[in-house]
Amino acid sequence: MSFALAHANVRVRVTRMKDAKALERLILGNREWLRPWEATNPHGANSFDMRPNVRAMLRQFDAGTGIPFVIEMDDVVVGQLNVANILHGSVSSATIGYWVVPQVAGRGITPTAVALVSDYLFNQMDLHRVEIEIRPENQASLRVVEKLGFRYEGTKLRHIHINGEWRDHFSFALTQEEIREGVLNRWLQNRVPPLEYPWKN
Ligand SMILES: CC(C)(COP(=O)(O)OP(=O)(O)OC[C@H]1O[C@@H](n2cnc3c(N)ncnc32)[C@H](O)[C@@H]1OP(=O)(O)O)[C@@H](O)C(=O)NCCC(=O)NCCS
Repeated sequence: MSFALAHANVRVRVTRMKDAKALERLILGNREWLRPWEATNPHGANSFDMRPNVRAMLRQFDAGTGIPFVIEMDDVVVGQLNVANILHGSVSSATIGYWVVPQVAGRGITPTAVALVSDYLFNQMDLHRVEIEIRPENQASLRVVEKLGFRYEGTKLRHIHINGEWRDHFSFALTQEEIREGVLNRWLQNRVPPLEYPWKN
């Protein structure tokens, strides 16, 4: 079941097999931009062949454990937002990861996409928790969670294999009861509370 979520000129929609070529072009064309933040395989080489990659993500979508979105600006694919580790029952949570091409950076596209998808996970899928994990060095991505008011919950040491090494990650979350007004609404209406982030003083 394919679907899309949109606000203004930003749309996230479920990835199709025929997106593989465009995604591969964007990923291969932006190696310097993406490499420092990209998950790598601890046991071997990384593959940029997006067809098997998209096929694997769509299998997770069919199994209900993930949702692979492309991010579009003005109907053009400019990045990816992947929902992974969807758990139901007494955990009811999911993790969001994302990237956009440098040509569209700084226009609030990612926070809009993250807000749209978080609201979908809370309100349509009735998940209780949405998590985002970010390397401490990734200032741009830290701004995304700060804008939307994701709470800092701690640091996971050597948590994800990124750019060839096990890297520490800051962990951020929102839970359903703290965001009844909607993640997108709260941000658009400038009602995100100022939060304490331990690395800021
Ligand atoms: C992190 C990322 C997704 C943010 O996306 P975005 O759509 O640009 O998000 P925003 O527009 O909210 O910008 C966030 C911050 O990026 C920085 N930024 C703005 N324009 C930029 C540019 N041209 N180049 C680099 N950074 C820029 C600013 O610090 C901005 O914060 P500000 O709005 O307070 O100035 C994007 O930078 C990216 O894809 N980076 C590479 C991959 C990555 O880091 N993925 C996330 C892994 S956790």
